[in-house]
Amino acid sequence: MRLFPVPALPEIRIYTAHPGSGLRRLVEPGGDDEANEDTSEPKPPYWAYAWAGGTVLARYVLDHPGTVAGRRVLDLGAGSGIVGIAAAKAGASAVIAAEIDRNGIAAIGLNAGANGVAIAIAEGDITADPPPAVDLVLAGDVFYGPEVARRIIPFLDRCLAAGIDVLVGDPRRADLPRSRLRLLAEYKVQDFGEPTGAAAKPSGVFSFEPELH
Ligand SMILES: C[S@@+](CC[C@H](N)C(=O)[O-])C[C@H]1O[C@@H](n2cnc3c(N)ncnc32)[C@H](O)[C@@H]1O
Repeated sequence: MRLFPVPALPEIRIYTAHPGSGLRRLVEPGGDDEANEDTSEPKPPYWAYAWAGGTVLARYVLDHPGTVAGRRVLDLGAGSGIVGIAAAKAGASAVIAAEIDRNGIAAIGLNAGANGVAIAIAEGDITADPPPAVDLVLAGDVFYGPEVARRIIPFLDRCLAAGIDVLVGDPRRADLPRSRLRLLAEYKVQDFGEPTGAAAKPSGVFSFEPELH
């Protein structure tokens, strides 16, 4: 892994995958047994990349520091930690990064250190837990599949009910709960998985709103 500025986020550098990183062994059965002892399936190294949803949410926070300044922030599904790092740089009073992947947790620690910010870690799946003691949840690209969306939406609803604001960054993936979102801003960024040089596509920053009855 090499420390590189994140595209569209020159203020933030993260340890980034490159062809010599050898990350493939993490997704091969038996390739990372210790780090995945809680599951039979190796986890893809989502933490090794800045996803479009997290990138635009981090961009929004850096461009609108008043969103986070002096507030306690949870970066839900933190991956590399880019969103939490942006929140810390923009003046959040405390940042917690929630991540289920132990390799991701290691990456968040390294990336926070590389950017000179402090981030606390909530390890494991907190979506069945009561809402944490924060003022704002930032959810960058966490609707990447139906199962994860099914867990996260009720958690975000409980956060709203507890008076916690929720912002979502997403390139409008299939499982994004669009009816619950109000668009705040849009940025064109490249997504993870797109070939180098591919055109940047619009991704949104949204406020997650209470369900209308
Ligand atoms: C698509 S990645 C986005 C990472 C980062 N937010 C970004 O935008 O670059 C989604 C991340 O959410 C994590 N994740 C999935 N379900 C989770 C849960 N219930 N609690 C915490 N993290 C979760 C995954 O391990 C993965 O690292």
